[in-house]
Amino acid sequence: MTNPASGSSGTNSSGDNAPLRAILVGVGAMGRGWLRNLQAADDVELVGVADLDVTAAKTALDEAGLSGVPVAGTLEELVDETAADFVVDVTIPEAHHAVTMQALRRGLPVLGEKPLAATLSEALDLVAAAQVYDRLFMVSQSRRYNPQLFAFRRMIRQLGGLGILVAEFFKAPHFGGFRDAMDHPLVLDMAIHTFDSVRFLTGAEPVAVYCDEYNPAWSWYAGDAATTAIFEMNDGSRFVYTGSWCSEGLETSWNSAWRASGEHGTTLWDGDGPPTLEIVEGRATAPVSDTGEVDPLDGIAGSLRDFVQALRSGRPPMGEARDNLMSLAMVHAAIASAGSRQRVLVADVLAQAHAEALARVDDAAVGDVLRSWTTLTPPS
Ligand SMILES: NC(=O)c1ccc[n+]([C@@H]2O[C@H](COP(=O)([O-])OP(=O)(O)OC[C@H]3O[C@@H](n4cnc5c(N)ncnc54)[C@H](O)[C@@H]3O)[C@@H](O)[C@H]2O)c1
Repeated sequence: MTNPASGSSGTNSSGDNAPLRAILVGVGAMGRGWLRNLQAADDVELVGVADLDVTAAKTALDEAGLSGVPVAGTLEELVDETAADFVVDVTIPEAHHAVTMQALRRGLPVLGEKPLAATLSEALDLVAAAQVYDRLFMVSQSRRYNPQLFAFRRMIRQLGGLGILVAEFFKAPHFGGFRDAMDHPLVLDMAIHTFDSVRFLTGAEPVAVYCDEYNPAWSWYAGDAATTAIFEMNDGSRFVYTGSWCSEGLETSWNSAWRASGEHGTTLWDGDGPPTLEIVEGRATAPVSDTGEVDPLDGIAGSLRDFVQALRSGRPPMGEARDNLMSLAMVHAAIASAGSRQRVLVADVLAQAHAEALARVDDAAVGDVLRSWTTLTPPS
């Protein structure tokens, strides 16, 4: 029996070295960053832009000096006209399922912004669809593409066994827009980055979580903007996250401020500069080799390069949707725990999402794939 964390890579290849043709869907705040990112990439050509707000999309293109690029209100209107090779989905989370499903059904690989989908059951649906339509679906977890994060991972590996990993996140952004109305703005929209980084840093998978979410009295968010969560990982370590999105003064990095404590010592990373390491005297471990690691570039430039290389080579990228599912499962397990005020097993949250996806699926082939998944969590 298969599960969503295994199976074929579902990649596509252009077969030559011509630039890959991209359609960008969603040109809001982050979409404008993606516009510049696609524009700057040598091996990508922007061939269409779709946004519900066509006027805003045209303005964004004019400002970027790309007035000749076709614009439409929906992805569907551009697919035939543009002969695109892939789609970049930078719409709001609630639109990720519809946009990605449409692209996959039209045979187009998708590089989507985080979160994978607005709900875990929608995420399972999309992972199954990527398998059915045999197209790469990658989530851009842009904060993985950071040379300092890679350096921090190397230091964690020198600690021997890992005991506890702590991440602190304190910022006070005034976004306006969809985040201000979300029930779980911090955990769903931001902590997904930190939770995903934990899986990258440790190689461990989440087993259970106890989480408390709340909204400080002075918060400008409708939903809970502050959270503390304790995760049990399948290597026996604990990950503790504490953060607030309405915390003014002495703010941390957007990447969080980190401490890892292990068998032989401790490593710290402030999220921006180089990490530091202290190994206890007499227990120095051999330095971990850099061999095999490429410069991850920075942010969305790194995720775009990873995606394009994956399309050309068939090698799975970081953030491949089946893998990213476990990062999103951490988010939804934390939300479930905060709601029930109980310790929650990640496997239970995935099983419930699986049942919801099966109850709702309207594509027989996607349903068959979903039914074939009898194991939804990696081995502990
Ligand atoms: N990786 C990061 O660091 C990072 C940072 C910011 C935002 N994001 C993510 O990027 C995504 C977009 O965030 P944002 O801040 O740009 O939001 P936004 O509200 O500023 O922009 C979203 C855009 O998508 C368009 N849109 C919505 N539904 C659509 C649909 N069905 N078809 C076409 N267009 C549609 C809207 O008209 C809007 O222009 C979110 O998933 C967010 O979590 C990631």
